[in-house]
Amino acid sequence: MVLFHNKSELQIHLKNKCRDAGKIALVPTMGALHKGHLSLVTKGIQENRTVVVSIFINPTQFDKREDLEKYPSTLKKDLELLATVSEKLIVFAPSVSEMYPDEVSTKSYNFDGLEDLMEGSFRKNHFNGVATVVEKLFRIIEPDRAYFGEKDFQQLAIIKKLVKGVNLSVEVIGCPIVREGNGLAMSSRNNRLSKENRAIAGFIYSTLETAKNLFGTKSALYITDWVKKEFLKHSEFSLEYFEIADEVNLRPIKKRQDKIKYRAFIAVYLQEVRLIDNMPVN
Ligand code: PAJ
Repeated sequence: MVLFHNKSELQIHLKNKCRDAGKIALVPTMGALHKGHLSLVTKGIQENRTVVVSIFINPTQFDKREDLEKYPSTLKKDLELLATVSEKLIVFAPSVSEMYPDEVSTKSYNFDGLEDLMEGSFRKNHFNGVATVVEKLFRIIEPDRAYFGEKDFQQLAIIKKLVKGVNLSVEVIGCPIVREGNGLAMSSRNNRLSKENRAIAGFIYSTLETAKNLFGTKSALYITDWVKKEFLKHSEFSLEYFEIADEVNLRPIKKRQDKIKYRAFIAVYLQEVRLIDNMPVN
């Protein structure tokens, strides 16, 4: 495993040792790695000659300062975990000044309104921050392919738009959600839950599963109403949003159409920890 903190050293290494040898993959992360991240890395290894994993807690995508301050920084542990997957990985762990040399500023993008829906409506400027750092990473590393999790399905859709909008030639690949035994989608935030709450958080997944089953016979309005009532019955949770939306444009479903793929999206607070999840429903 090779570790770089400096972007020009990484670029020289890629140019001299990797660029002509085959495809280069990038797996962008903010560290605090778990099996969800590792599944992206594994897919990257299977499909490419070189895999770069970036570990960078990007300040511009946090709407609340306290969330940024609370974000776990666990580089040593992350490197150990990555080494269990492959010794051949390249890790890029830059400092804030390396990524934002002039000032920590956020670029403004237009993602055809995608940025204002769901996560975007509750986390102002979040996706501009994500796109700012991902565009920087793409320009530094120039990967052939980049791997993102469906766990953050809206982020994945936005990155696909970003690549088209700024004319980058990277193939964006979505990877399935990795879950804990009780169905809870893996996330670095799960560590902030108590043992008891981590166990009951499987309720989010089972609710999505039932919503999916109901989608066969009931309207989206009925299901949304049912989900809201379910969460009111479980007062440990506080539901922020539940939506059934078109998988491509993420607009909320109006009149169901046969050819369109729909997904249920959810954001829930449990013990002040914000958890998101999603699931295809047809
Ligand atoms: P982070 O939350 O560290 O996630 C890095 C990648 O891992 C994302 O593509 C995310 O969707 C994926 N991921 C997280 N949990 C997953 C799970 N349970 N199953 C499958 N994939 C999972 O997302 C970010 O970082 C940042 O916004 C980033 C893209 C790195 C930009 O700063």
